[in-house]
Amino acid sequence: MTRRREVLKAFAAGAATLALPRAVQSAFGAQEPDVVLRLVAAPATPALRPDKKTRALRYAGEVLRGRRDALRPSTGNLGPTLDLRRGERVRIEVVNRIGAETVIHWHGMIVPEAADGHPHQAVPSGSGYTVEFTVRNPAGTYLYHPHPYRLTGPQTYYGLAGLIIVREPRESAIGLPAQDLELVLQDRRIDGDGQLVFKRSMMDDMNGVLGDRVLVNGVDDAALKVAPRPYRLRIANVSNARIYKLAWSDDRPMRVIGADGGLFSRAEGIQERPYVTLFPFQRIELLEDFGARPDGAEIALVSREFSGMDMMGSMMGGGGMMGGMMGGRGGMMGGMMGPSQGEELHIARFTVSPGARSRATRIKLPQSEPSVREGNHELYTQLAFRHMRGFLNGRRFDTQDAMAVAEDERLPARQTSVWTFANDGGGMAMPHPMHVHGVQFRILERRGGDVPADLREGLIDTGWHDTFGIFPGERVRIALAPEIPGLFMYHCHNLEHEDGGMMRNCLFESRT
Ligand code: C2O
Ligand code: CU
Ligand code: CU
Repeated sequence: MTRRREVLKAFAAGAATLALPRAVQSAFGAQEPDVVLRLVAAPATPALRPDKKTRALRYAGEVLRGRRDALRPSTGNLGPTLDLRRGERVRIEVVNRIGAETVIHWHGMIVPEAADGHPHQAVPSGSGYTVEFTVRNPAGTYLYHPHPYRLTGPQTYYGLAGLIIVREPRESAIGLPAQDLELVLQDRRIDGDGQLVFKRSMMDDMNGVLGDRVLVNGVDDAALKVAPRPYRLRIANVSNARIYKLAWSDDRPMRVIGADGGLFSRAEGIQERPYVTLFPFQRIELLEDFGARPDGAEIALVSREFSGMDMMGSMMGGGGMMGGMMGGRGGMMGGMMGPSQGEELHIARFTVSPGARSRATRIKLPQSEPSVREGNHELYTQLAFRHMRGFLNGRRFDTQDAMAVAEDERLPARQTSVWTFANDGGGMAMPHPMHVHGVQFRILERRGGDVPADLREGLIDTGWHDTFGIFPGERVRIALAPEIPGLFMYHCHNLEHEDGGMMRNCLFESRT
C-alpha cells in the first residue's frame, strides 16, 4: 500500500494568499469550499496575572471566504472557536510560526486521512499546509489541537487548542435554550512571575501534567454573569491529564443532554447525575436553568475530591490507612508532590444577574439517526504502563515507521466492529482516557476493574463518543463503524502518555 504524504507544504508562511497547488486534487472535486479559514499558530503573551506577560502559544484565525461568523474569537489564551454547519465544505490553511514543528488534529471530526493531522503530517515552523473536509459530524462540540509526535503535551499546555462547534437546522426543533455557553477547562500551574509551569519531575511523565488551578476559556479565576434563564452549557476538558468530577456548589443535579459526538437521542433521554466524571478531551452538554436560583445567587462549578489514582494515590490506597497516616492528599505528601489527581478544585463562579426570567421549556431530543451497520469483526487491545511508558498490545508508537500498523489494528470501514480494551497489562495501575481518530463510537459495556465508587455514578457512557476513560483492571467494549477508510490513530489521551508513545495507528480498510 502506498501512503504518500498528501499534506501540502507548498508555500512559505507569510505569503498573502496560500493557494492550493493545482497538482493537488481538491476534496470537493469541481466545487468551491463554502468556508475558507486560516489558523496561525504563533507565540503569544497573554496576561494570566495582572501586569505580567505570560510566555505562551496561541492560534489566531481569520475567515478568508464565506460566513464571517464561521470563526469566533475566544477570551483569554484560547484559539478561536470554529463555528461550522453540517454539510459545509471547509478549507483551512494552517500556518506554523511557533518555532517547532506542528500539525493540527480535528478531534472528534470525521475527516479524510489527508486532513486528520497525523504526526507524520507535521510541518516545520515557517511553513504551512492546507486541509479540506466536508462537515459530516452531527451538531455537537468538538476540538482542535496540535498533534506532532512528542510535542502535543507542551504545545497544548502552552495554549494551542480551540473548540469546533457544529450546528445543523434540525437543532431548532429541539427546544434548546437560546443561551449557549462554552466552557473549556484546562488546569495549569502558574508561578509567581505569571509563567506557566510545565513538567517538573518524572512524576509528570507518569501521571501527566497536572495544574493546581483551572483556566476557563483561557482565563484564570473565571467569573461569569448569567441571566436567570435556561442555558445550554458545552463543557470540554482540554487538560493534559486532569480528570474532573464536575458538580454545582449548591448540589443541584447535572442534567446531561449530550457527549463527545453530539446530543443524546430521544430514546436515551436526559441523564441526570449528582456529578459528571469527565476525562481529558471528553465533552458534555448540560441543560442548566439558572432561573431556578434567586437573583444575585452565586454558584460555582467545582471539581469534587475523589480517591486518588496517581502513583501516590495507589500507593496510599487513596485515603486508606497510609493515606490517613500521611495526612491525606491535602497533607504533607500532597504539598511536596505538587497537584494530584482527585483533589478538590474551584472551576468558575456564576452570578445570576437580575433580569427577565424565562422558565425552562421542555426539550425534545432528536430521533437517533440510522446508524446500524452489519459486521462482526472483533479487536482486542491490552493496555499496560511499565517503566514510565504506556503500551498497547505490548507496542508503542513506531518512530522508525510512523505508518506502521499491525494485523490486530486493522478493521473494516463501513461495518461494525467491536473493540475490547483491557486495562490489565500489568505495571502501574492507572486510568487512561482512550481515544480513536476518525470515528464516533458507542460504549457497549464496562466490566470488572477498580472503578472508584466515588466516580462511578458520574460516568457518561450514553450517546456517541470519541474518548472514554478506562480504570485499572477494567474491560471496556466499544462498537464502531468508521465511515471513511484510511490510516488513523488510537491512543491514550493523557497527553504525556501519548507523547511517551502510548499511541498507535489503526487502519480502516475498505473491503468491497
Ligand atoms: Cu485529540 Cu490523537 O487526539
Ligand atoms: Cu482525535
Ligand atoms: Cu494513559
